[in-house]
Amino acid sequence: MTDVSGRIAFITGGANGIGLGIARSLARAGAKLALADVDVAALARAKAELQGMTQVETYQLDVRDRIAYASTADEVESRLGPVSLLFNNAGVLVAEAPAKINYDLWDFALGINVNGVINGVQTFLRRMVERRQGGHIVNTASGAGLAATTGSGVLYCTTKYAVVGMSEALNVELRGADIGVSVLCPGPVATGIVHRSHEVAPKGAVQLSAEHEKRRAGLREQINQALQQGTSPDTVGEMVLRAVRENRLYIHTDRFMEEPIKARTQALLAALP
Ligand SMILES: NC(=O)c1ccc[n+]([C@@H]2O[C@H](COP(=O)([O-])OP(=O)(O)OC[C@H]3O[C@@H](n4cnc5c(N)ncnc54)[C@H](O)[C@@H]3O)[C@@H](O)[C@H]2O)c1
Repeated sequence: MTDVSGRIAFITGGANGIGLGIARSLARAGAKLALADVDVAALARAKAELQGMTQVETYQLDVRDRIAYASTADEVESRLGPVSLLFNNAGVLVAEAPAKINYDLWDFALGINVNGVINGVQTFLRRMVERRQGGHIVNTASGAGLAATTGSGVLYCTTKYAVVGMSEALNVELRGADIGVSVLCPGPVATGIVHRSHEVAPKGAVQLSAEHEKRRAGLREQINQALQQGTSPDTVGEMVLRAVRENRLYIHTDRFMEEPIKARTQALLAALP
């Protein structure tokens, strides 16, 4: 889609971080915005910031809630018009040692990072196809959806590989429907995802001693600090807008995963009979 001006964009996780960066770049390009998030205070801040630039509506929505998702979509389309730009971006980062993961954590990570994306596609794709006005879907995965590295985490990798696979398949299947598909695979981006995810993750999933808890908090802060050295969310927003305009499937934000992707590809090829 070369021109997003006047189009309606629906962005999940649009109140903070990368989603807000995408919202800012789209607002500058003249798109109208529907921001959906669970963080009501951040939604209000985003609206106050962006409403001088374009029409912005905000929606409190948990992307796991299918019924609420459908009624939110109806409300968005009756207020703003037909959604033709969909950004399935809401996500959480939970790191847990494989043997300490329990079902609560699996349900939490898969529920938001995978089912949230599925719910977005289920809700909007049919509407987009039936209207025949073109469109574009951007799913936010991660570099952790392209190769597993130490520290990327079983939970997170599993969910992000699913998002990459789904996006690649949609890209193939939607050729001819005038609906572009991109998958955003960022390296480190300077957002508050580590602490924000920890705040909403199921508590007491694993029993930890006070000492262990302290070490965990220290590790989280280390990861958070490392992310703050990464790309700014606003730069990512601009990269995403460019990829939509150029209809590109893969969106990388840096070369962070170059060596792991090479190693994985070589290992896959070497394992062929
Ligand atoms: N920050 C990074 O380094 C990085 C790297 C690779 C991929 N990503 C991915 O980018 C996406 C955005 O992450 P971010 O770094 O901007 O994080 P963030 O925490 O700054 O933003 C995520 C937003 O999603 C919202 N959210 C969380 N659960 C939700 C739910 N159930 N329903 C609706 N909204 C919900 C949060 O409230 C928040 O506003 C995620 O999918 C993440 O996995 C981030």
